[in-house]
Amino acid sequence: MKNVLFIASEAVPFIKTGGLADVVGSLPKCFDKSKYDVRVILPKYQCIKEQYLDKIEYVDHFYMELGWRSQYVGIFKAVIDGVIFYLIDNEYYFGGNKPYGEVYQDIEKFAFFSRAALSVLPVVGFKPDIVHCHDWQTGLVPIYLKDSFHAGDFYSNAKSIMTIHNLKFQGVWDIKTVRDVVGLSDYYFTSDKLKYYNDANYLKGGITYADYITTVSDTYAEEIKTAFYGEGLDGLLRARSGSLCGIVNGIDYDVYNPMTDKLIDYNYDSNTFRKEKVKNKLKLQEQLGLVQNPDVFMIGLVSRLTDQKGLDLVACVMDEICSEDVQLVVLGTGEEKYENMFRHFEWKYKGRVCSNIYYNEELSHKIYASCDAFLMPSLFEPCGLSQLMSLRYGTIPIVRETGGLKDTVEPYNEFEGTGTGFSFVNYNAHEMLDTIRYAKAVYYDKRREWNKIVDRAMAKDFSWKTSAVKYEKIYDMLIGY
Ligand code: ADP
Ligand code: GLC
Repeated sequence: MKNVLFIASEAVPFIKTGGLADVVGSLPKCFDKSKYDVRVILPKYQCIKEQYLDKIEYVDHFYMELGWRSQYVGIFKAVIDGVIFYLIDNEYYFGGNKPYGEVYQDIEKFAFFSRAALSVLPVVGFKPDIVHCHDWQTGLVPIYLKDSFHAGDFYSNAKSIMTIHNLKFQGVWDIKTVRDVVGLSDYYFTSDKLKYYNDANYLKGGITYADYITTVSDTYAEEIKTAFYGEGLDGLLRARSGSLCGIVNGIDYDVYNPMTDKLIDYNYDSNTFRKEKVKNKLKLQEQLGLVQNPDVFMIGLVSRLTDQKGLDLVACVMDEICSEDVQLVVLGTGEEKYENMFRHFEWKYKGRVCSNIYYNEELSHKIYASCDAFLMPSLFEPCGLSQLMSLRYGTIPIVRETGGLKDTVEPYNEFEGTGTGFSFVNYNAHEMLDTIRYAKAVYYDKRREWNKIVDRAMAKDFSWKTSAVKYEKIYDMLIGY
């Protein structure tokens, strides 16, 4: 049996702000259980919903040295769908009403979490073969492992993997503060390690020290080696390209299943979508105060409202998108300028545009099930899960060809009768608009063709099956058998 520990800052069902939580919550249960014991370790945030806090039980506690500080580490445990989750308790770090705060707070919070994640393992008796780290919050783990933990027998064989879900966020803060917080010697604060210009950079440390690096799609794995997508770390990623690969994300096919989903009003599958899917549309129109019309082209957008998601393209041609024969349903939170833009257009096009500026799991499922198309024109997209959810529900993605969007959405080809969505190449608002208009024309004028696109979209398999095996192969390669 090989022991694998996932270390991450969020995972469903406990806490979610984006796709990272979906991945960390759904991938562990997809490994071959006869060969891999995969467990997950998370912070026990105070803001985790009561119903999930009820599921966890106290295991033990101890005090841990973090530089000159000595901090309380509580250990809690839960078993969800057969996977063991450990949650690290410390009210000072994990209090508050959201998982992330100001950068300077998070820098200390996740130094504590990274060291605690390794420190609890002997206490719970889980000897790791692989520690699988996710994003900058766990960037210090591979360093701690080599610096202090490897020396002991318990960790001596442990290998580390760093999975990059989003290179944009790196955990950067001034060296003086970081050195005080993390308890590592001066040796680590040079330009070939943690130092990044005049600051310290957690993700850089993780990428430098991890035994292997993965990211969440093949295309993003290539893109991040270029200056445009590399966020200043492209040189390092090129240097480590021999130990870097892309593995595309999957989604939980039990949770996102239009046939069994309890959050949607009418269940359907690839045989019944022609009749049943539209009932969801009518119901959603009624619920959101949109004009009820089964035939109107309805576009969905469920997203963090940030620059990454290509929303300035949307802003640029919003009036043109919201033409008479289109309805737009938005669900998201994020930057104020985008929140207000969508609120404004709901006011301007009442009955045709509905902007839901909040976070709501149930409404997200209803949108995936009800809309005809799903808009995701990202500036960059490491993988993207929303387009996979849309495909699963027969809602046709309209995407920009970048990162995982390029790898998972096959552009419609009317001559060959192939493709599962619509896509455009350049980061250009009118290119996006043309693509939306093209999709709309197929929807209105060639409905049989449109339905065949839906057939092909729903037939795609983006469950974790294939990708979990790819991770297993990397684990085997690192462990050496
Ligand atoms: P990212 O991780 O960059 O935000 P992904 O497409 O990988 O993008 O994952 C986004 C996840 O968050 C999806 O599960 C999506 O449904 C969900 N999501 C985003 N915004 C909201 C929201 N306002 N309400 C509910 N779910 C949301
Ligand atoms: C990040 C990326 C997104 C990816 C998700 C899960 O949040 O922005 O593209 O799907 O991580 O890997």
